[in-house]
Amino acid sequence: MSILKKIDLNNTPKHIAIIMDGNGRWAQQQGHSRLFGHNFGVESVREVLKAAQKTNVEYLTLYAFSTENWNRPQEEVDGLMDLLVRTIGNEVEELHKSNVKISTIGNILGLPESCGKELHEAHEKTKKNTGVNLILALNYSSRWELTNAAKNIAIKVESGKINADEIDEHTIISELNTSNIPDPELLIRTSGEYRVSNFLLWQIAYAEFYFTDVLWPDFKASDLYKAILDYQSRERRFGMVSEQIEKDS
Ligand code: FPP
Repeated sequence: MSILKKIDLNNTPKHIAIIMDGNGRWAQQQGHSRLFGHNFGVESVREVLKAAQKTNVEYLTLYAFSTENWNRPQEEVDGLMDLLVRTIGNEVEELHKSNVKISTIGNILGLPESCGKELHEAHEKTKKNTGVNLILALNYSSRWELTNAAKNIAIKVESGKINADEIDEHTIISELNTSNIPDPELLIRTSGEYRVSNFLLWQIAYAEFYFTDVLWPDFKASDLYKAILDYQSRERRFGMVSEQIEKDS
């Protein structure tokens, strides 16, 4: 039986977030430059998106460039930006045809203009689509997002729009980049690293974590299905006890 057939389509995570890691090591293992690995990483993005479309996944968030990634060698940063612009430009038509809706989280204004323009066009073109939501986290970090949220709430309090004692979880959620997106139920990180690296810290409060040694350029459809199957084997309790979950289901 194929691994896809083992998945219970009534219980797939609606939102999967992925920390795509290991491009550099994958390339270096083969004696190539790190950028070679990023280029191959795009193949995995393509394959994983197609795989997600075969399940009931509605949101796929990919950590493509973190705020901290600016600290990499200039050549790699430039190469990554160039790759993003080229990939979005090349893929948007195909993604549109397959009903994918493209959006972003992160400080897009801090990206090179060409990148911002390509992303804006991709968003405009696909915004009415009703298939998988592909969310690219670019120039993103949770601490940046939460700091902005705090600032915006402070401004609202200062201007008398809200009272400080009215602030609740919803106030904060509404200031996040993900305000219209449900929290991920599953967070995947590739390449054998066990870190969250400033990614969706608020949103993963109840997410299941799946770590794999597979390097991102080797991560294929079957790896995504394995992660979903693993997720389906877990019991999500949200702070309750097993008996309560059984009674509710
Ligand atoms: C982490 O591997 C990967 C990145 C920082 C970049 C990921 C970007 C892509 C796969 C391109 C995505 C393109 C689109 C359009 C979504 P690493 O370089 O940290 O690897 P290492 O840990 O082995 O050094």
